[in-house]
Amino acid sequence: MAMNAALEAMMLLFSGVDGPGMPERAVFLGARVHRDLSNWPDLVGWQPFKPAADEWDRAGLRRVEDVPDGLWPVVLVLPGKSRDETLAWFAMAWERLEPGGRLVVAMPNTAGAGRFEKELAQAAGNIESIQKHKCRAFHAVKHAAHDSAIFQSWKSLGGIREIPGTGFVTTAGIFSADHIDPGSRLLAEHLPANVRGRVADLGAGWGYLTDAVLRRCSGIESIDLYEADSRALACAERNLAGHARDIRYRWTDVTAGVADGYDAILSNPPFHTGQVTDVDLGQTFLRVAAEGLRRGGRLMVVANRQLPYEGTLESLHMAWRKVAEDSTYKLLFAEKRR
Ligand SMILES: C[S@@+](CC[C@H](N)C(=O)[O-])C[C@H]1O[C@@H](n2cnc3c(N)ncnc32)[C@H](O)[C@@H]1O
Repeated sequence: MAMNAALEAMMLLFSGVDGPGMPERAVFLGARVHRDLSNWPDLVGWQPFKPAADEWDRAGLRRVEDVPDGLWPVVLVLPGKSRDETLAWFAMAWERLEPGGRLVVAMPNTAGAGRFEKELAQAAGNIESIQKHKCRAFHAVKHAAHDSAIFQSWKSLGGIREIPGTGFVTTAGIFSADHIDPGSRLLAEHLPANVRGRVADLGAGWGYLTDAVLRRCSGIESIDLYEADSRALACAERNLAGHARDIRYRWTDVTAGVADGYDAILSNPPFHTGQVTDVDLGQTFLRVAAEGLRRGGRLMVVANRQLPYEGTLESLHMAWRKVAEDSTYKLLFAEKRR
């Protein structure tokens, strides 16, 4: 398990004599595994990202699919990358704190930890913090004298929103929450009309590519959306509700594999893990896609131009061609020969 520096900083708060001490009951939003958590008497985690949720399950910790209701003495928050998502999670956590309960947050400095700490201090009316591993861990107690209007405005940042002029809905924190990804748009513009049979979309996000292929191709019998972010998948369900087709939503870590025998697979593969570029992740998507296709099946991929996916397709014995490119993206279409 890779070290999560923000989580390490957070856990220091519970190990030192000056910190709040190990809580009786706690809920963890954005839950990540830490060795010390297995000693906590009553801890429940919520984690929308499947690989992290799987890791949590493997550690034998208790997990819920939806953010639990009820009031808690301690809520831990390990936010993602987006500002709106972070503030919405603060509000979600605050709402679930009992009076006198404690909200505990940890973030890398590069994610704006100092700024978020100030914002939380303003809303909560109190804050304490430590710095460690280039991260900040800060905590605030829910006293009566907090600014509920600020928390209310943050809560609204976490709702369902529409990408203006598109009819598509998204939510803060998922990929491409405020716009259609230009790479995916390029792929949508070049999708052939003769895609048919059983189709899959790997890393389907909120469903843009699936929507495009269903609009263009009447011969599709079924389409499986594989996506790691459960919130994105929930948006995809809403975005695709108008298609009277066989659509399946699969909350999956694609790197662990997908079903096989597909006639066609489309993908705009991820190539970041957190904030770090991870070319291996995209390459693994291509390998899993190749395994998921029947012989003669087609793969349609969009990628940033600098990503070395041609070599990956070669090593997978796929016959590939570059169908289009612009200043940022390229489209690689490939066929499984054996
Ligand atoms: C570049 S985005 C493309 C999203 C969508 N297809 C679109 O065009 O807007 C890649 C997607 O892969 C998802 N993802 C990242 N890692 C994943 C994994 N291990 N398994 C499944 N999906 C993953 C991300 O959450 C994200 O939605």
